[in-house]
Amino acid sequence: METLVKTEGERNVQILSDLEAISREAATLFVNVSRNSIAARKKFAAAISGGSTPRRLYTLLGSFPYRDQVDWYKVHFFWADERCVPKEDETSNFKNAFDRLLSKVPIPDGQIHRIKGEEDPEKAARDYETDIREFFGVSGLPVFDLILLGMGEDGHTASLFPGSKSLEETARLVVPVYTEKPNQNRVTLTLAVLNNAAQLLFLVAGSSKTTVLSEILSDGEKKREFPAGRIRPVQGKVTWLIDREAAGRV
Ligand code: 6PG
Repeated sequence: METLVKTEGERNVQILSDLEAISREAATLFVNVSRNSIAARKKFAAAISGGSTPRRLYTLLGSFPYRDQVDWYKVHFFWADERCVPKEDETSNFKNAFDRLLSKVPIPDGQIHRIKGEEDPEKAARDYETDIREFFGVSGLPVFDLILLGMGEDGHTASLFPGSKSLEETARLVVPVYTEKPNQNRVTLTLAVLNNAAQLLFLVAGSSKTTVLSEILSDGEKKREFPAGRIRPVQGKVTWLIDREAAGRV
């Protein structure tokens, strides 16, 4: 099935047949961005997300052929967000990636920059911010080479939920958030950090996302009501890999 590609400025939207197709395209993009970053800066800093959609991507990156195409000794993994649960918990975003990818590749432990979901959310957020600032050596905004994002049916991304005051945060890089649905504490990168990345990559699949996606990819002002609709890279690029089901009206 042919791929529908729409490029507007720094936004690239690709509609592919299904989750397998967008996961393979994402794995190729991950490999390419890692190679370019390592060639330019001898390291590659990627922040990844949780949820179900990226699981196939993590499994692909953790296996042949993609696993052998990345210099894992130069890769640093961060998270866009985490649920405030222990790392052994089935809902942990760390565990989600560890079981499928991190445990399958030779990445040094010191290069896995986990959000400590088992800690008090405020402390976990501050410690993670300190880790990011030390790694990037910045007092301002870090520039992640790649940030992988998903999108919820309500248009949330990372753990930035519609109407949340965390969306207006401009000083901190990381904040604790509480979300009613599901009743949970989380820790998330802020919008300013996401929008400062060199490459943002959205993976979106399934018909449950169609309605909000058509709003977010439209030119209407309504899209700003949705956190994913406020992803506008300041200097980088954003790629949306969408399956045919989610694309529906796009
Ligand atoms: C999380 C994610 C979150 C996720 C969306 C989409 O911790 O849940 O980081 O932002 O990307 O909720 O989740 P699905 O991929 O499961 O639809």
